[in-house]
Amino acid sequence: MLFVDIIRTKRDGRPLSDAQIDQFVAGLADDSLPAEQVAALAMAVFLNGMTVAEAGHLTTAMMRSGTQLDWTAQGLDGPVVDKHSTGGVGDKVSFLLAPLAAACGLYVPMISGRGLGHTGGTLDKIATVPGYDATPDLDRFRRVVSQVGCAIVGQSDDLAPADRRFYAIRDVTATTESVPLITASILSKKIAAGNQALVMDVKLGSGAFMTTRDDAEALARSLIDTARAAGLVTHALITDMNQVLGTTAGNAVEMREVVDFLTGRARNPRLYTVTLALVAEMLVAGGVEADREVAADRAARALDDGSAADRFNAMLAALGGPADFLERAEQILPSAPYVVDIMPDRPGFLASVDTRAVGNAVIELGGGRRRLDDRIDLAVGFSHMAALGDPVAPDRPLARVHARTAAAAELAGQRLRAACQVCDDAPTIPPLIHTTLT
Ligand code: URA
Repeated sequence: MLFVDIIRTKRDGRPLSDAQIDQFVAGLADDSLPAEQVAALAMAVFLNGMTVAEAGHLTTAMMRSGTQLDWTAQGLDGPVVDKHSTGGVGDKVSFLLAPLAAACGLYVPMISGRGLGHTGGTLDKIATVPGYDATPDLDRFRRVVSQVGCAIVGQSDDLAPADRRFYAIRDVTATTESVPLITASILSKKIAAGNQALVMDVKLGSGAFMTTRDDAEALARSLIDTARAAGLVTHALITDMNQVLGTTAGNAVEMREVVDFLTGRARNPRLYTVTLALVAEMLVAGGVEADREVAADRAARALDDGSAADRFNAMLAALGGPADFLERAEQILPSAPYVVDIMPDRPGFLASVDTRAVGNAVIELGGGRRRLDDRIDLAVGFSHMAALGDPVAPDRPLARVHARTAAAAELAGQRLRAACQVCDDAPTIPPLIHTTLT
């Protein structure tokens, strides 16, 4: 069939057949389909949606476009369970959660992405660790997951290659925020990675792709139902993204927060709550614990007794990074030459944050990409960010900017001030965890 007729079918609001979806995915995977036709179909799906059956078939077809991992030969003594976030600003949870879940007996083969739109990428943050191989071959990946319990890596050429190309085209054609496309993109990778269970962190708020509760729930339901049809147990937490998660947004600045968290030097309470809730849900979804509170206690102990920190160092070492990263992070991580506090225009309480604008300000500083092939400045970003409800004043900054030049620091300050609303009265803070869906 001519591909233009497949685009026309979706453009006119009709469902695609399995054969049409297969033709699309085959053309993505072998590069025979030109980007303009991929983009046109993506926009048609964005505007007209997909049925549950179409999204399910797209998931399976993209999953089958590459290798599918099978962990049975490894003889693991615990379930293979992963977590995936739909994307946020300052979301460094993966670095805390993967070693923590491993310390609690799970195996976590975490396939992560680069920044997408205004959101930061786990893969960009791990690039701050010298020597770390974020694209190991499948043998090394299997070995590290089996021996350490977790590995955070990028999507290899072998794993769901059709999604890899589709994701890059969606990123630059304003077709990211589509429930069926996000569903198929995430699940094709998670199923191909051989997971037995998955916990989704569906972000909701000004820094998320989903900005209404209805949209976030629709995405969570689509992920759960599509995954279940493919045999993958999936639970979802809807968590708040109306402010940066933790106190940092950038790459090296976020890794410093990770180090402080794992070593116990400083633990932002919101970051702590979200991380522990997600690990607890992984333990429940993986069938290791029946009760969420018991699971959360188990995770808290593994954090406090240093087991999670040990796993983190072991993961970095096994993938070529320094074995004592947590001890020497301050010497290892890049730092920016201009570090300046950003003062509010007026004293008061931090009432709301346009978190997408904060993510965009990080990109403008050089900490994210405007184009696919941009190089990232790993040192820049924001730290010491005030939380919603915090008092701010001339001696209580909104945040601290880390910039390459004085002019960039000044501009980032203006952008952050414009993104933050300061009021006389303490605001109502949105709930951190809206709901859990299974
Ligand atoms: N994460 C993914 O892997 N894919 C999307 O489409 C959005 C977030």
